[in-house]
Amino acid sequence: MKVAIDGPAGGGKSTIARMIAENFGFLYINSGNLYRAVTYLALQEDVCWQDSQAMIALVQRHHFDYRPDGAVEVDGKLLAGELRSPQVDAIVSQVSAIPEIRAQVNSIIRSISEGKDVVSEGRDITTVVFPDAEIKLYLDASAEIRAERRFRERLAQKVSDIPPRIEDIRKNIEMRDALDAQKTVGALKIAQDAIYLDTSDLTIQQVYEKVYKILRARIAHGRK
Ligand code: CDP
Repeated sequence: MKVAIDGPAGGGKSTIARMIAENFGFLYINSGNLYRAVTYLALQEDVCWQDSQAMIALVQRHHFDYRPDGAVEVDGKLLAGELRSPQVDAIVSQVSAIPEIRAQVNSIIRSISEGKDVVSEGRDITTVVFPDAEIKLYLDASAEIRAERRFRERLAQKVSDIPPRIEDIRKNIEMRDALDAQKTVGALKIAQDAIYLDTSDLTIQQVYEKVYKILRARIAHGRK
């Protein structure tokens, strides 16, 4: 079974996807982590992200894999905190707008997911990567709330010695929202058959309860 979740940054996708993966024993595929890993490698190896050919070659020279918790390994090495740096945040949406990079990422995700129960989240999972997913969700929240959530997350993660500023986070989220909406391929859209949830006034537990009921009903229906 495939569960596909899309939505903007801070909508709660990764937390909910992780809870589904843990409780239902699904593999968790965080597609944003793969775009972040490609972006991180470009920064590390001094590859100019505007040079599509060099970016394609960069993806081809590395091996990408997922751990069951959605974390990404590159050439067998776990990448975690380094994927959440302000430097990666600043250009990941531009990197993910390159159609050839999207095609490479999608093919890695599909090949890792083949024949497995998977919960995958991102921007185009319900529309492009798994258009036939049995369950499609779109998790939304106001930009204000999403920035606040991301701020608290970054404070807890301590990814850098410089403390995060909510104003910078809000600006970055708004910039990425705008870029995600404009993408020529893989733009963030609400799929016609997706269940839309506004999580602005809900706790994670409340969102999960709704999602859990949807999954249970769908699984029971599938067994009839
Ligand atoms: O965690 P957050 O929602 O901030 O972002 P992410 O899921 O880590 O994704 C990072 C960026 O990659 C997003 O801002 C999108 O621009 C891009 N992305 C995408 O284009 N398509 C996806 N399926 C997933 C992410």
